[in-house]
Amino acid sequence: MPPIELIPDDYFRHFRREDIFPDTSRPLELDVGCGDGTFLIRMAQHSPERDFLGIERLGGRVNKIVRDARKARLNNVRVLCLESAYSLEWLLPAACASRLHLLFPDPWPKKKHAARRFMQPENLEALHRVLVPRGEFLFKTDHADYFAEATANADASPLFRRIEWLDADEFYPITDFEALWLSQGCRINSARWRRE
Ligand SMILES: C[S@@+](CC[C@H](N)C(=O)[O-])C[C@H]1O[C@@H](n2cnc3c(N)ncnc32)[C@H](O)[C@@H]1O
Repeated sequence: MPPIELIPDDYFRHFRREDIFPDTSRPLELDVGCGDGTFLIRMAQHSPERDFLGIERLGGRVNKIVRDARKARLNNVRVLCLESAYSLEWLLPAACASRLHLLFPDPWPKKKHAARRFMQPENLEALHRVLVPRGEFLFKTDHADYFAEATANADASPLFRRIEWLDADEFYPITDFEALWLSQGCRINSARWRRE
């Protein structure tokens, strides 16, 4: 089994598609800010014909994903311990991913911190960069203000076109944070766009 943690030889060199997974004909999905990786691992178990790359800045969470993926003997999961905007803007190859999941990103609820939210117009360009044409961007948050701001930005962008959320019978496991918010009775907001 190749190593599950993807450690760049050189953080200033662009990855090639084959640096992530050697068989570049298989669809690749990105889970940005993947946390403890429950969603990532379950998706990889459910779809052995696709490859999954998680991006997470906290080393402890990355280590847990490595342990879980090894235990489940998954060879279609890799995880990168790195800042997500840098990964999407610079490190990952353009047009490498068929789907990108941004699930419960840190909401930065205070007004003075709102500029730290991931869904800023410049990051939309980075999301667009890594998706293949007609690739999909899926977003979920429990935070109503963040959802309103993020959907307004993405809906106004010529880079993306909003499409319906997934059919109810399509496999899409809940994430660790989603389970937490659901247990507290929070409303979950979801949106999906196609890359233009
Ligand atoms: C609220 S948690 C959600 C985790 C997971 N997606 C879920 O739904 O359970 C947000 C995650 O994004 C990670 N994160 C936040 N900012 C990041 C950044 N700039 N680069 C990479 N990871 C980041 C955090 O460390 C955390 O694990």
